[in-house]
Amino acid sequence: MYLAILLAFAVPAHADTRSDYLLHCSGCHLSDGSGTPRSVPSLREDLGRIVTVEQGRGYLVRVPGSSQALLDDAGLAAVINWVLTEFSSATLADDFVPLTAEEVKGARQDVLLDPLKFRAELWRKYLGS
Ligand code: HEC
Repeated sequence: MYLAILLAFAVPAHADTRSDYLLHCSGCHLSDGSGTPRSVPSLREDLGRIVTVEQGRGYLVRVPGSSQALLDDAGLAAVINWVLTEFSSATLADDFVPLTAEEVKGARQDVLLDPLKFRAELWRKYLGS
């Protein structure tokens, strides 16, 4: 009991980004990021490509599941960066610049009302067929 209290103070917030992912995202996206066909997208396929365009970086933050998670800006940035390197390394460029807390702060205030439409437009405009 006392040990638990001590640990709670000793461990800084977001010490374990994987736990944050499991707590805030895996309920829908599953622990390996594979999602559920036709209802929850996989985080293992296109994200590395999406993040190459500025609007795509914002998109990863602005989808409701990200932007409304009970995580602070630094914590959400860490989880998204973790998702990219952990699940999407196959499509992630070597020169990928991690999202910052500041970037996340701005983007998450602008929650996407129609993420699927935004994604389709993003793809059509910047990422080809
Ligand atoms: C309640 C279920 C749910 C939770 C929790 C959730 N998501 Fe999602 N996520 C979705 C759904 C559904 C979509 C598809 C877009 C939409 O309809 O919102 C999505 C889309 C995404 C996308 C875009 C994927 C693509 O290929 O277009 C990313 C990135 C993402 N979520 C990340 C996260 C992260 C990071 C968390 C945790 C902080 C999270 N999500 C939590 C359900 C969820």
